Amino acid sequence: MIKTRVTEILGIEYPIIQGSMQYMSLGELAAEVSNAGGLGLVPSMAFPDTESLRKEIRKVKSLTDKPFGFNISLVPEVIVPELIFDYINVLIEEGVPVVETSGQRPSHFIKPFKEAGIPVIHKVTSVRHALSAQEDGADMIVLVGQEGGGHPGMDEVSGHILWAKAAEELTVPVIAAGGIVDGKSMYSAMSLGVDGVLMGTRFLATDEINAPQSYKEALMHLPENGTVLTMRSIRNAMRVANNPFAQKILEKEREGATLEELMPLISGKRSYDAMQEGKFDQAQLSVGQGVGRMDKILPAQEVVKEVVADFYKTHEKMVGLVKNESTVL
Ligand SMILES: Cc1cc2nc3c(=O)[nH]c(=O)nc-3n(C[C@H](O)[C@H](O)[C@H](O)COP(=O)(O)O)c2cc1C
Repeated sequence: MIKTRVTEILGIEYPIIQGSMQYMSLGELAAEVSNAGGLGLVPSMAFPDTESLRKEIRKVKSLTDKPFGFNISLVPEVIVPELIFDYINVLIEEGVPVVETSGQRPSHFIKPFKEAGIPVIHKVTSVRHALSAQEDGADMIVLVGQEGGGHPGMDEVSGHILWAKAAEELTVPVIAAGGIVDGKSMYSAMSLGVDGVLMGTRFLATDEINAPQSYKEALMHLPENGTVLTMRSIRNAMRVANNPFAQKILEKEREGATLEELMPLISGKRSYDAMQEGKFDQAQLSVGQGVGRMDKILPAQEVVKEVVADFYKTHEKMVGLVKNESTVL
């Protein structure tokens, strides 16, 4: 057990959260992470209607009796504005234990969850947005560094700067994300004062992720410098594998393409379909820089266990360094 404010609020054993990944981190993965003592998150917007969302929530409940969460992503390529509150109502009706919001200021979206007594995690990429989300009532705030998969923000500030600064400036617990793939990176983040970590990319290489084996194996060959940021021109930067398709998008952006012109190339559905069909050069595929430090595809429960074991081992090593220092003195 690693006790922090995050484990206390969420009622979990370890402050390890599996990041929500559109179409990919579904009920099976989230339940396994929760069963291992962390918290799994499922993207609500991956479901085409409220009934299929409800079915997925019930599936997670059947797979774990531990706390789990659903994400409401408000980023432009997944949001369906007129449906958002229908989705929110389903999460409340089904008593989802935790909700994560992301993609835009959560002010309008937090209230119904707070009224229902559901803790809200909000995810941001800057300290400024973290302070606004705290003002809006978020119970915990994830700070994603520029290393991260998905949308790591426009500022390109490294996680270590953001986490330390947010932990100093916020009163609510901070959760670190971006480039965390093992116990050492978790330890380093937590040494800066955060109360937990969230990992997306590491969970892409798990048995339960909704992706073909060939995709997971391809990931193992990506080096730490094998990603690029697309979509900066539309102020919605996304970290993706640096394949020829990402270069094609960057070229279009340099030519001044509009959102409408880019949409057929950048839609999440296109990426998902290409990935499922093994056409890895036919779409942009989101992944964080941490991929360069991953070399094993594992069951999700094993990932959590390995991270925890590595965290304890790192702690022993650090304590050992301090002892050695005092011996010298
Ligand atoms: C393939 C992929 C899809 C993602 N989809 C979403 C999403 O739909 N909503 C969201 O809030 N974050 C999404 N993210 C971001 C993750 O939840 C998390 O913030 C990020 O992966 C953390 O950085 P890391 O990848 O370095 O661990 C996605 C990330 C990846 C890699």
